[in-house]
This record gives sequence, structure tokens and C-alpha cells, in this order.
Amino acid sequence: MKIVDHKKIAFTKAGKFEETRYEKIHNVIFNNSNEASVLVAEEIATLIREKEGKGEFCVLGLATGSSPIKVYEELVRMHKEEGLSFSNVITFNLDEYYPMEKSDIQSYYYFMHEHLFNHIDILPENINIPNGKVSSEDLYQYCIDYEMKIKAVGGLDFQLLGIGRTGHIGFNEPGSHYNSGTRNITLDHITRVDAAPAFLGIDNVPRKAITMGIGTVMAAKRIVLLAWGGNKAEIVKRTIEGEVTAEVPATYLQNHDNTSFLLDEAASSELTRVKTPWIVTACAWNDELKLKAVVWLSELTKKPILKLTDKDYNDNGMSGLLTEEGTAYNLNIKMFNKLQHTITGWPGGKPGADDTNRPERAHIPKKRVIIFSPHPDDDVISMGGTFDRLVEQGHEVHIAYQTSGNIAVSDDEAIKFAEIVQNLNPDCTTSKEIIDFLKSKKENAIDSKEVRKLKGLIRRAESYGATRYLGVPDAYVHFLDLPFYETGTIKKNNLSQDDIDIMCALIEDIKPHQIYAAGDLADPHGTHKVCLDALFEALKILKPKSFMDDCWVWLYRGAWHEWESYQIEMAVPMSPDQVLRKRHAIFYHQSQKDGVMFQGDDSREFWVRVEDRNRLTANKYNELGLAEYAAIEAFKRYYF
Ligand code: F6R
Repeated sequence: MKIVDHKKIAFTKAGKFEETRYEKIHNVIFNNSNEASVLVAEEIATLIREKEGKGEFCVLGLATGSSPIKVYEELVRMHKEEGLSFSNVITFNLDEYYPMEKSDIQSYYYFMHEHLFNHIDILPENINIPNGKVSSEDLYQYCIDYEMKIKAVGGLDFQLLGIGRTGHIGFNEPGSHYNSGTRNITLDHITRVDAAPAFLGIDNVPRKAITMGIGTVMAAKRIVLLAWGGNKAEIVKRTIEGEVTAEVPATYLQNHDNTSFLLDEAASSELTRVKTPWIVTACAWNDELKLKAVVWLSELTKKPILKLTDKDYNDNGMSGLLTEEGTAYNLNIKMFNKLQHTITGWPGGKPGADDTNRPERAHIPKKRVIIFSPHPDDDVISMGGTFDRLVEQGHEVHIAYQTSGNIAVSDDEAIKFAEIVQNLNPDCTTSKEIIDFLKSKKENAIDSKEVRKLKGLIRRAESYGATRYLGVPDAYVHFLDLPFYETGTIKKNNLSQDDIDIMCALIEDIKPHQIYAAGDLADPHGTHKVCLDALFEALKILKPKSFMDDCWVWLYRGAWHEWESYQIEMAVPMSPDQVLRKRHAIFYHQSQKDGVMFQGDDSREFWVRVEDRNRLTANKYNELGLAEYAAIEAFKRYYF
């Protein structure tokens, strides 16, 4: 597809775009989603002003969800600070759940007003959002009227889109027809799973929605689709590189000649030009890319690294690399050693050993360590084995639970504990209030302060169970209860200085030689990302202090996914006994067992998932030709 539009060129200049034979939709990769969102807001603002200059209305198609939030924030800023007026703007939202009250905090009506409409000068009569309360008898005609209304104002000048993991745009789920118009649809199971956290459980997610059709969207003069985070990587690849198919409705956009996809690095990571650039074009090889390519080749040919031949390299687009390295033999040995050197049973460094080729320093034999855990359980789930070794090897290990994790405790669990307190002390008014509150609680209602406190205490007690089991004194267990999390709902506050101050104070107090943190970016708006940002901000502030010269930061990944083999810089193997100890430590987090509230689309319990994942990492290492271990925990170093 040729780039003809100047707006596409503007995006292309700001981010990375390369036309390859694999890609069928113009797409630009940005370092981060904020940068891209600001550019989208600028494009929208320019369009609004152009139209205003001509005395015309500007008709915008708008999306909800996490992807466009920053675009709306920027438009609001432009309105407030730069006088951008929306008085000539007419908007049509893509969709709304059905049935759904406007006042419901999960409604797209509520979302749009909270993020945009309440803060700008758009005329209320120019706002169109499908009405989730239309009666079922009137629904058919209502949808036709919505469609006609868009046509009557001259069609959509600009359509903003997100993409669901099913490949939906709007709520056009797999199976949607190319010519479909606005209509009532049934949501895909995966879409409902993704929406479950916002509804406090999948059972509360509506089964239906009203959505503009594919035909409606395709008629827009300009389309910009936003996709952020690793969760979207797979579907982004299928949409941009796959065949046009009703199974992935977003692929229809391949037939729209003025569409741009804006991606962040994580969302672009499965694109062929990103994942395996050597089969697309000549590469500028650095060590990480070499390892990535060699690991990929080994997996592709199902051969351990040391058995790869010149022919394997040449046949798979890597002849350039071979020329650079001389022979397959040289390259194989180099890459094999690199991987081999990531393996250590001494995550805190091996005292007295030559550490030239070890991931951690041998000096400072007793290190002070902080393990930051976003929720009270990520520590043992993600790095229970390494945690155990660090304690056993005599390091001073502190655990810092960044959030209280209170919203993930079920009401039943809270009632159980409140009843115990009540039975112990029948005069206790707090436990009585909690029981009364929970027994009469309405669906989706926000918990009272006391209930949240109790739920947080339950998670604290469970955490102590696990940390004591692993031999950590209570004084080394820190509950930070970062304020951004304490909203009582899934939607969290933005990170504030208070959060960062709390992080800084702890680091400054302990002066650690090692920090472990969750580097889990699957969900760019999730709690793990905010917790990581809080750490990064704290590191920036503390960097000038001399104790920070000795501090190394290692990132682990949460329960959802793992580092790729080529990214791993420290691999800590576990024996079968250690796997069992880790399992046991996870079991202390009882409120998160047997069907946690925010399960995602993986129905396995955390301990099962993580055991599988640690086994898989070990298998991958073994298949690359390294020693065979029962399980491996993986870390990547963060340089600040
Ligand atoms: C929202 C909509 C959906 C979302 C998509 C991605 O109005 O129509 O198609 O754009 O589900 O949602 P997020 O951005 O939350 O990942």
C-alpha cells in the first residue's frame, strides 16, 4: 500500500515505518503510546480547525476502552490550554453494551463523558452514543436511524478505533459481514473475558451490545487504529499481515485506503519485520539481535544451537550474519556461551567465585535485596524459587508489596473472616457493619472503607504466611499500600508524587544492592505497569545518590507471560524440591485460589500456570542445547 496522505507521512516521520512485502496496512511503531496519542490528537485538532475554517461540521467516530484515553486527555488539554473548540464537532460513538444504563459506571456513555465530553464545549445535541436502554422492539429501527443519522451529516470524517483480541473493531466480532451496518450483536467470549475486570467478574458482563457495522466504519474518510501492549501483538500481526477474513474483522481495513495503525513497541512485537527482521531485509546486527536470530533458527529447525550449520543460516535469511561472523561454528559457540552464562544458582552472586561470566557480582557477599511485588503474591508466583535461594544464601531480603490487592478478595472470603471476628467478640461493631454491608451489597457496588480494609488485611495475613515460610523476618516485610490503587474499583488513579515518595523512602532506607520488580507489560494500563512506572520514577530521583551505584535492578515477569529466551540475562534453575517449596509458598495466598476474581482467559490457577511456565523455560533452554533442569525462573536486567 502506498502512503499518499500527508497525515500518514507525519506519523511515519515520528515513528518507525517500513513498507514490507508482509504488511498490508500502513502502520507506524512508536516508542510509547503517549507520544503516538498526542499526534493523533493533533491530527483530530487540525481536522476540526480546517472544517471550522470552512464553516463545516467535523464528524468524528469515537471509540472507548483503554487505547484512546490519552488521545482524549490531550484533546481536553488542547481545549483548555489552546482554545480548541468543539462547537463544530458532531460525534458518533462506535458502540454501547446492551442492555446498559447511561449512569452505570461501566457504560460507554459514562466513559465518554468522564474522559471527554464533560470537559469540552461540544453541544450535547451533537453527541451520539448508541442507547443501551432502547427497548428490544425498537432496537432494529433504532440502529437503522443511527446509521441514517451518520449519513445525513455527510458521513464520518475521521474514525478512531481500538482493536479487541478477537480482531473486533467496534463490537464487530468474528463473523461480521463486510457490509454490516449498525446493529445489535452478541459479544465474543474473549471480549467478555477482557471486560470482566471492569465489571468485577465475567458474570456481570453484558452478553450483547449495539455497534456500528463494518460498512459504517469503512465509509469513514480517514481511520486511525490504536493498539498498545503485548496483549495485542498477535491480533495486530494477523490483521496487518493475514488474509482478509471475517474471522478477523479488522482485516477488512486492508481494503480501506486511508487507514493508519499506530502501535507501541509491544503491540508491534509479532510483526515479521520486528520479530524476524532478517527474513525481511538486511539487518544491522547487534548482540541481542544475533541471539534472537540464533534462538529463532534453533527453534525453527528443531536443532540445538551447537548443531546449526552454514546451510541452516543461509536457507533462513541469515547469510549476512554468517558473513559477519565467519562460520556457523564460531557464531554457535558464541551464542551458546552467552546463554550458558545466564544460568546461575546464585542469584545474589557467588561469593569468592570469578564473576566475569556470571550474571551477578560476587563481591558484597551479603546483599541487601528488595523484592517489589505489585500485588501481595506476585513475589512468590513469579520468583518464589529465586526468593527462596536469596534467603537461603544469607542475603537480607526485604519484600515490598506495592498495593494492598484488596479488590481481588471475594465478598464470601471477607464475610468468613468478619464472622470469625464477630464470633470472637460479639460486641465488635466493625465486623457487624462489614457483615451487614456485604450481605446487602448490590452487584458492582464499591466496597465500604472497612470492607476494603478487611480485604487488604486478609491479603497481608496470607503474605506473612508465605514470607515466614520462606524465612523472612516480619520486620523485612513492607506493605506500601500505594495510594493510586486505593479507589475501590478496577479503574485506578494516575500515579502521583505520593506513590513515588513512598517508593523512594523505602529504597533510601534499605539502600539495596539488588532490586527485583515486575517487568510485566502485557497490559499497559494495568497495575503492574503503574507499579513499574513508580519504581522507574523513584530510580530516576535516587540515581545521583552514591548508594545507588551498587544497586542492580532485575525484572521478573508476572503470572501471564515470560521473557523470551533471547531476552533472559539471569536464569535461576530450580530442582523438583524447590518447585514444591515454591508451590507451597503460593498456597498461602488462599484468597487467590480456586477461581480468582480476575482470572483472565486462562482458567488454570496461578501455581499451575507458573509451574508450567517455569518448566517451559527450562525445556526451551534444554532444546537450545543447555543442561536439563526441572524449572527455571527468568530475569532481565534494567539499566537506569
Ligand atoms: C470500544 C470498542 C472496542 C475497543 C477494543 C479495544 O468502543 O469498540 O472495539 O476499541 O475492544 O479495547 P481496549 O482499548 O480497551 O483494549
